[in-house]
Amino acid sequence: MKLRFSILFCAMILSFTVYGQHEDFHPGETWKDDQGVHINAHGGGFLIHDDTYYWFGEIKTKGSEGNKAQVGVSVYSSEDLYNWENKGVALAVHEDTTSLLVKGCVIERPKVIFNEKTGKFVMWFHHELKGQGYKAAMTGLAVSNNVAGPYTYVKSVNPNPGIWPSNFPDSLKTRDADPDDFEWRSDEWFEEVEKGLFLRRDFEKGQMARDMTLFVDDDGKAYHIHSSEGNQTLHVAELTDDYLDFTGNYTRVLPGQQNEAPAVFKKDGKYFMISSGLTGWDPNPGRSAVADHPMGPWEPLGNPVVGTEEQMRTTFKSQSTYVLPVKDRENAFIYIGDRWTPKNPIDGKYVWLPIEFEGERPIIRWYDSWDLTFFDN
Ligand code: GAL
Repeated sequence: MKLRFSILFCAMILSFTVYGQHEDFHPGETWKDDQGVHINAHGGGFLIHDDTYYWFGEIKTKGSEGNKAQVGVSVYSSEDLYNWENKGVALAVHEDTTSLLVKGCVIERPKVIFNEKTGKFVMWFHHELKGQGYKAAMTGLAVSNNVAGPYTYVKSVNPNPGIWPSNFPDSLKTRDADPDDFEWRSDEWFEEVEKGLFLRRDFEKGQMARDMTLFVDDDGKAYHIHSSEGNQTLHVAELTDDYLDFTGNYTRVLPGQQNEAPAVFKKDGKYFMISSGLTGWDPNPGRSAVADHPMGPWEPLGNPVVGTEEQMRTTFKSQSTYVLPVKDRENAFIYIGDRWTPKNPIDGKYVWLPIEFEGERPIIRWYDSWDLTFFDN
């Protein structure tokens, strides 16, 4: 009895020292979970459920193959946002080589939302097929009855085949322009891209969907926001009531402006987006935009970074993935970005910084360390 008690006591002390270890955020530094291991949840998406935070992300592995999905999507949980418990693999890749979700495909930027009507947790992610680089540009769907999974893979699609965006003018629907007729990235090419060169090309088969996020509005409507048209134009696409499909209602946002890594949040009835430019794993100047409706029109607000030239040029060496509203606090939002390390992807770090507002413009400043009392002011 005595022995059992002391073992229990030691275990409690141990788990307390490991788990309850963080009291603040240290952007860009190694961030250990409850097991003392750097959190492995890149391109993350967050969900608040039953008063608990869940962090879903890409499980990276060591070395050059580590950006491909060797394991799947991880999930961590937290009560306080500083200390995260590893809840394991939420969505596992398949060993079955006939499955599109086969080990070695690419799974990026997983996002999970909860459907109040069906009681299901719905995960969408950027999915590239094994051996095809980034050509497929699909979005994948997985569902679960439990927040931490396991999630069951359902399908991958190119959204909205045979449907025009609601804000695409009739005059451009029949425009005679072929992608092969233009020199890649020439002035004419950019002009045509803006006028829907790739939108028309992909009209029958469905649109490209790469970097992505999900946003659920107060009325329960969900939107799938993804980088489309060769990463040149964002699409904001409405999801069906069960969140398992696209309704066909979608808009082109900031055509030809190369927005990637979208993250959307709502404050005082307005919708804000943080995004990045298009430079692969290398960081670039962040962007921000505002709208009165998730489907736009979106008005660019410029680089949200306030800091040194270097910080503005690299968004604190990070690329956006999510803006997290802090629970039980009004107008408290956290910018969450990835500091990618593509040569050894598992080593990638996370940059969490508070979002501040200058008038109606969201801004982000650097803090070596900070905690949630920041929002008390
Ligand atoms: C980035 C994108 C990442 C990943 C990477 C691959 O631009 O944001 O999610 O797709 O390109 O090079």
